[in-house]
Amino acid sequence: MDASNGSQSFGETGNADIKCFFDSAPPLKDASQIKMKLEQFIENNRAKSENGKGSRVVCVTSGGTTVPLEQRCVRYIDNFSSGHRGSASTEYFLKSGYAVVFLHRRGTCQPYCRSLPDDPLLECFEVANESNITVQPIHEKTVKRAIGENRRAVMRGALLKLPFTTIFEYLQILQLIALSTRSLGSSALFYLAAAVSDFYVPWESMAVHKIQSSSGPLDMRLAQVPKMLSVLRKDWAPTAFCISFKLETDTKILLEKAGKALEKYDMHMVVANELLTRKEEVIVVTQNGNITVQRDKTRTDADVEEPLIKLVVDRHSAYLSSKS
Ligand code: PMT
Repeated sequence: MDASNGSQSFGETGNADIKCFFDSAPPLKDASQIKMKLEQFIENNRAKSENGKGSRVVCVTSGGTTVPLEQRCVRYIDNFSSGHRGSASTEYFLKSGYAVVFLHRRGTCQPYCRSLPDDPLLECFEVANESNITVQPIHEKTVKRAIGENRRAVMRGALLKLPFTTIFEYLQILQLIALSTRSLGSSALFYLAAAVSDFYVPWESMAVHKIQSSSGPLDMRLAQVPKMLSVLRKDWAPTAFCISFKLETDTKILLEKAGKALEKYDMHMVVANELLTRKEEVIVVTQNGNITVQRDKTRTDADVEEPLIKLVVDRHSAYLSSKS
């Protein structure tokens, strides 16, 4: 199947909106390089087996997509997400023996960097002279641990980082990843934590140059970004284990909306989170009921992602057993 053109991959869903979105999107730069990297990554990890986890590969999406308002973009609409959820989850997936394709927004939080000091990196070092630079003792432990863990993941070829900025890039790369993981069948997992734009300006109706403020108030019509969850599930990666996220600021509607997403998009799990408490607690919605997952409050450095990824890995294992 040709993954370079989205229009060829909607067989069963046949969704005209999705076809239209891909047909009119600006072509993805470096598409052939990304495809090559993905093929190599999947191939290298296919034969490996760690912790009895075989060749499990997870695509973790992280950070928010932007919607450009001009083709030569000066202004854009952004979606909130620091990338903390995606990067922390990536670390726990790697620890569990998974290979991770980390599809992330450029400039957002990266795996193993969460623990680094808030001070700008350049201020973490002591400089005797230019050939004698050391990490300040106060930061030494965290900096060395972050560098070491990242290096180990990269050395064993288990982490592939692919950056995006716009909604166009995100969805085109997601499609490439999904199509290239098809050969892994049920060993592939999608963990869709990115905050994806719901509205966008179609490329052909977008101003080419910077919109002039001298023209007065801006009146702009945004089209709806088609939900890609159905096409991912049905056409792109029909045997993969799929987890989507639901973010709301109003707890009253959160679980109802997560439940609807589970049914409508035939997800295996939906992780429901509320904006203010998202680092403390999430509720995992499944066909067999809801599971509340909380971080260990007795430890100051504990992440909610630690028990969350343990649950995801257990459920993925059960899914694989049911398939074999
Ligand atoms: O990065 P942090 O600061 O740590 O924050 C993490 C988070 C709160 C962003 C994360 O935990 C989260 O909830 N991510 C999903 C937020 C979101 O966009 O929810 P939504 O209701 O808009 O979308 C629900 C699902 O539909 C998502 O899995 C998304 O991938 C998918 N979607 C959304 C829009 C679209 N056009 N197509 C999609 O497939």
